Amino acid sequence: MIFWATVFVLSAVWRSALSVTRYSIAEEMERGSVVANLAADLGLELGGLAQREVKLDIFHNKKYLDVNKKTGELYIVEKMDREYLCQTKTTSCFLKLDVIIESPLRIFNIELGITDINDNAPHFRRDRVELDVSESATPGERFSLPNGVDPDVGINTIKTYKLSNSEHFTIEIQTGSDGTQYVDLVLTKSLDREENAVHKLVLTAVDGGVPVRSGTANIIVRVQDTNDNPPRFDKQIYTINMTENSPIGTLVKKLNATDLDEGPNSEIVYSFTLYTSEKTQDVFELDPNTGEITVKGTIDYEDMQLYEMHIEARDKGTHPLLGQCKVVVHVTDMNDNYPEITIQSVKNTVDENIPVGSVIALVGISDRDTGHNGNVSLSINQPMPFILNKSSDRPMHYKLIVSAPLDRESVPEYDIKLIVTDAGTPPLSDNETITVHLLDVNDNAPQFPQSFYTIRVMENNAPGALLSSLTAFDPDLHENQYLVYFILEREIANTSMSMLFSINPENGNLYALKTFDYEIENEFFFHIEARDSGSPPLSSNVTVHIIIVDQNDNAPVIVSPWRAHGSESEHFNI
Ligand SMILES: *[C@@H]1O[C@H](CO)[C@@H](O)[C@H](O)[C@H]1NC(C)=O
Ligand SMILES: *[C@@H]1O[C@H](CO)[C@@H](O)[C@H](O)[C@H]1NC(C)=O
Ligand SMILES: *[C@@H]1O[C@H](CO)[C@@H](O)[C@H](O)[C@H]1NC(C)=O
Ligand SMILES: *[C@@H]1O[C@H](CO)[C@@H](O)[C@H](O)[C@H]1NC(C)=O
Ligand SMILES: *[C@@H]1O[C@H](CO)[C@@H](O)[C@H](O)[C@H]1NC(C)=O
Ligand SMILES: *[C@@H]1O[C@H](CO)[C@@H](O)[C@H](O)[C@H]1NC(C)=O
Ligand SMILES: *[C@@H]1O[C@H](CO)[C@@H](O)[C@H](O)[C@H]1NC(C)=O
Repeated sequence: MIFWATVFVLSAVWRSALSVTRYSIAEEMERGSVVANLAADLGLELGGLAQREVKLDIFHNKKYLDVNKKTGELYIVEKMDREYLCQTKTTSCFLKLDVIIESPLRIFNIELGITDINDNAPHFRRDRVELDVSESATPGERFSLPNGVDPDVGINTIKTYKLSNSEHFTIEIQTGSDGTQYVDLVLTKSLDREENAVHKLVLTAVDGGVPVRSGTANIIVRVQDTNDNPPRFDKQIYTINMTENSPIGTLVKKLNATDLDEGPNSEIVYSFTLYTSEKTQDVFELDPNTGEITVKGTIDYEDMQLYEMHIEARDKGTHPLLGQCKVVVHVTDMNDNYPEITIQSVKNTVDENIPVGSVIALVGISDRDTGHNGNVSLSINQPMPFILNKSSDRPMHYKLIVSAPLDRESVPEYDIKLIVTDAGTPPLSDNETITVHLLDVNDNAPQFPQSFYTIRVMENNAPGALLSSLTAFDPDLHENQYLVYFILEREIANTSMSMLFSINPENGNLYALKTFDYEIENEFFFHIEARDSGSPPLSSNVTVHIIIVDQNDNAPVIVSPWRAHGSESEHFNI
């Protein structure tokens, strides 16, 4: 307890008409401090006082004062607390006492005024006060704060209040009709819970004493959330690549909108907006609570390459706020479609002499995939007298062209296997076979196995004897290989060969028509031609050399004189 260092001396001594002696002291004076010299003030003799009985009758249950019989001084036995003695907050506080001196009996009435000193600091009944203030409170709104208490009186009691520095609050002090001060907390600037949810203020009550005393209370202002923040996505557009045929349940994207508010004001429900097509909603599912987008249907690149989802996030505030975003899904192609071959026109039968460069077929190729997966090429599986030539005006179209002369007699038909392959990984392919039959053309002349025949015939042969069979071969077909044989007449000078020989036109059998006589003629030359029935016909001829072989059919004759060879002679049969 603070008390004055020097004794605060009572000076006012006065006597009232009612014979009440009044003194005034400051409260809290130390024990032993002298209040007054009663002997002097009351006109008592010091010497006699020691023998007389002096009694102090204090109208209180505690003995605060006593009288020194030797000196006649009234002094303090027990410290006096003004606030204890005079609990009513009046400005004047008296301690009444009677000094009773016996023999002879004398009674003095004394009133001891106890003046206030600033021995109490202001304080608050609760040193921590919590206030809930809505975030939407407008500047000017007031909130009552508890008053401070200071038992001292006058200037020593609370004089003013102070508030710690605050951007948002100040205090105003109202004084009631009884002089009591009321403190209001006043909002000066709008609150934002998201910026600062709790404001810690210190309210200080200050008294007017010297030195100044003060007491504090912590004011905790808790800002109550209002739904003033919409949910927000960190991006407006999310772009995602998904491969087609992704299995159902595959996570596409987990959306995460944030709402700075708290409680239901920050709890978010996700949904597709009306701008999201039915088709897209058939393929993708959005979990309203977790914001997860998953695959629900079949993603087919060939059907759709791009999906757009318009999504809103709505908080659960009483007046919900919205945030929006867009999710764009680009579908990536997989090599899931086989390439295809379309034969648009084909000549399945062609003449074998078709010119090089002639078009046999028009072929289209296609693949529903894109990029590498749809980059198709057409080829022929093995070397053939055909090539594929890309159409210059129609992409993905080929002409199948004859690239070398054809010959039915060597290869009568071709199975041309066309293979289409894409460039996917792994590549897919398909094939189609074009069969081309070659039609015969009379491009081969009949061929005799030999170009020159020498046939020996014994003279005296029987007429009609078969001499030989001269068979030619023609590799062509049908009438182009159907041969007719005949003897070429014009080569024979005078004699008609057909008088001597005949040939079966159908099979080339050569017969002698008469009996030859070596001694008359011993050889013949003629040509036989084989001619096919094509149009125009082709033919070839061979030279036939008939040699008549001598038999010993003539008896020797004496010729005298010698006759030239070949002259008339007589024949004898043996
Ligand atoms: C999506 O694919 C494109 C090319 O098709 C690529 O440029 C882009 O980086 C991809 N995006 C993601 C998120 O993978
Ligand atoms: C959402 O984002 C916030 C902040 O970016 C993060 O703290 C939170 O963990 C995220 N939630 C989920 C479910 O990813
Ligand atoms: C298709 O493949 C060919 C050969 O592999 C290549 O030259 C061409 O650039 C490819 N085209 C595309 C569109 O990928
Ligand atoms: C292939 O076609 C081009 C024109 O499209 C042509 O110039 C070229 O001669 C053709 N090639 C063959 C072998 O026919
Ligand atoms: C051609 O296609 C058939 C099925 O259409 C397949 O069995 C065969 O293996 C293919 N041949 C080649 C050479 O690609
Ligand atoms: C051939 O016949 C012609 C008449 O047609 C005749 O003049 C000629 O003498 C004959 N030659 C021989 C060798 O018989
Ligand atoms: C016989 O054939 C040869 C070629 O082999 C030809 O030059 C000749 O003219 C032919 N003779 C006849 C009569 O047709």
